[in-house]
Amino acid sequence: MNKVTLHTLSACKKAGEKFTVLTAYDACFAHVVSEAGVEVILVGDSLGMVLQGQNSTLPVTMNDMTYHTASVAKGNMGAMIMADMPFMSYATPEKTMENAALLMQAGAHIVKIEGNAWLAESVSLLFERGIPCCVHMGLTPQAVNTLGGYKVQGRDRDSAKQMIEDAVRLEQAGASMLLLECVPSLLAAEITQAVDIPVIGIGAGVETDAQVLVLHDMLGITPGRRPKFVKNFMEEATDIHSALQNYVIAVKQGSFPGPEHSFE
Ligand code: KIV
Ligand code: NA
Repeated sequence: MNKVTLHTLSACKKAGEKFTVLTAYDACFAHVVSEAGVEVILVGDSLGMVLQGQNSTLPVTMNDMTYHTASVAKGNMGAMIMADMPFMSYATPEKTMENAALLMQAGAHIVKIEGNAWLAESVSLLFERGIPCCVHMGLTPQAVNTLGGYKVQGRDRDSAKQMIEDAVRLEQAGASMLLLECVPSLLAAEITQAVDIPVIGIGAGVETDAQVLVLHDMLGITPGRRPKFVKNFMEEATDIHSALQNYVIAVKQGSFPGPEHSFE
């Protein structure tokens, strides 16, 4: 695959072509995921749950994130590498700059932070210093304790209106991408239209510019209850390579996610 840049992804949005995002945390999976044509590899702080067995993403540290980002960078074959900034590592603009720099030096091409309009200042500072940023909105797992659980966000009129305003504000501040987790499909579609930057969705319906899943979820090996937005791509595949390829095809065709993976 040719090297994926922000330009590649904006061109996809303009042309109405969907792109694919998937998590990976090590060199071997980074290799097969990028070879399958996934445009963006997310080194997610979901590694706290998936790799470490924690029951939330809160215990994940900057050291964990730089270690896994560096591993992914070694195996990557041209995908864009997005690295999550872990809990409290971007609590102030100063901390944000320092910690984002460490992730970029470990091999990330873009960082992701969770929140809303309060992040505008940090987003601008990062952008001015050469660090692109994706803002993760809607269900933000690092805030599970203030949200009161892993619940769909933006269900009522006021919170939906606020989310649209915040998305536009963050684009103006210099965000290069947005990620919407667990928001009603209609709201996700509205936000996707309201901004020119690419919008990635998970549990956000089929109308976003891209989709993301946690690798171990789509391979069907995550223990416990499977969230509604997950599809096990191993069910119709003979091996991991074909499961990854089927995911890429399903996203590009718009056959994943279906209504059964989305919230109305
Ligand atoms: O950490 C992660 O894997 C994520 C995705 C669920 C979007 O943030
Ligand atoms: Na995350």
